[in-house]
Amino acid sequence: MFPIKRHRRLRTNEAIRSLVRETYITPNDFLVPLFVVEGKGVKDEIASMPNYFRYSLDLLEKEVKELWNLGLKAVLLFVKVPDNLKDNKGTEALNPDGLMQRAIKTVKNACPDMLVMTDVALDPYSSVGHDGIVQNGMIINDESAEVLAKMALTHAQAGSDFVAPSDMNDGRTLQIRQLLEQEGFNNTGIMAYTAKYASSFYGPFRDALDSAPVDLVDVPKDKKTYQMDFGNRIEAIKETLIDIEEGADIVMVKPGLSYLDILRDIKNEVEVPVAVYQVSGEYAMIKAAAEKGWLNHDQVMLETTMAFKRAGADIITSYFAKDVVKLLNNQ
Ligand code: PBG
Repeated sequence: MFPIKRHRRLRTNEAIRSLVRETYITPNDFLVPLFVVEGKGVKDEIASMPNYFRYSLDLLEKEVKELWNLGLKAVLLFVKVPDNLKDNKGTEALNPDGLMQRAIKTVKNACPDMLVMTDVALDPYSSVGHDGIVQNGMIINDESAEVLAKMALTHAQAGSDFVAPSDMNDGRTLQIRQLLEQEGFNNTGIMAYTAKYASSFYGPFRDALDSAPVDLVDVPKDKKTYQMDFGNRIEAIKETLIDIEEGADIVMVKPGLSYLDILRDIKNEVEVPVAVYQVSGEYAMIKAAAEKGWLNHDQVMLETTMAFKRAGADIITSYFAKDVVKLLNNQ
């Protein structure tokens, strides 16, 4: 008999294909990143991220309600900090009435059941654009972790459900967990960016927040002394296991598409939910190719989303979240 097996029987039409499909996407899979700016009535398109915007608090409120009505139940907040408030220590990050702290309250007021996660890193607040304090030509670890813990506490006090340290300094998850417990925020969770690589795919994000490292004579302009080397795989598992020990409730792999192997490795290794971040550069690449007519936007968007889920992601952080859900609703 030839052929011995006919696999194509299970691919005959959409009915049979959907019946045997292993992976599905729903609105429950997504965490939606949102960029917030000062002002009123501001909805500012990010040049390198077509159709993605920075919102002032009033329009953030509107956007969050729209997301909720689409079935999207979790947001990850980032703020663009005015230059005059930036310094090397990221002092403004600790302001209880700062933009992030107000944004958290705005989202909770507009949509009380929306899960709010907040980015904890110094770069948007840093006059030098690093995720920690710079001293003697170095990004100093322990003092930076201490500031991050204090920053996380102000987020918890403002009502954040999960703080998300994205800096990659050592020990920051433990510092944050300890301070939160000490101050009575035992229900505030931590989603730690545990396997975050020093990637060139973050470019458009740094445009969005104007947070790129600046030229300094004695400090490297990249983040390679704290974010991970993209040649490494075992190190991602090591980083992740330690973060879980230190108190991470959710761990994250970032970027996404170029790191699906890492995502699968970690999913196989750990017992906590695993998030992935389809980062700004991944979004920009798809948008640019689609604009040129070289790729089918919607199909590529769905294919990459599905790839994250198939590779083991429990949570997909993506600038495409809203578009994917809209597309699914129309199908
Ligand atoms: C800040 C932070 C970055 C991103 C998320 N949090 C930038 C960086 O590490 O330089 C990137 C997200 C994206 O590119 O979409 N620590």
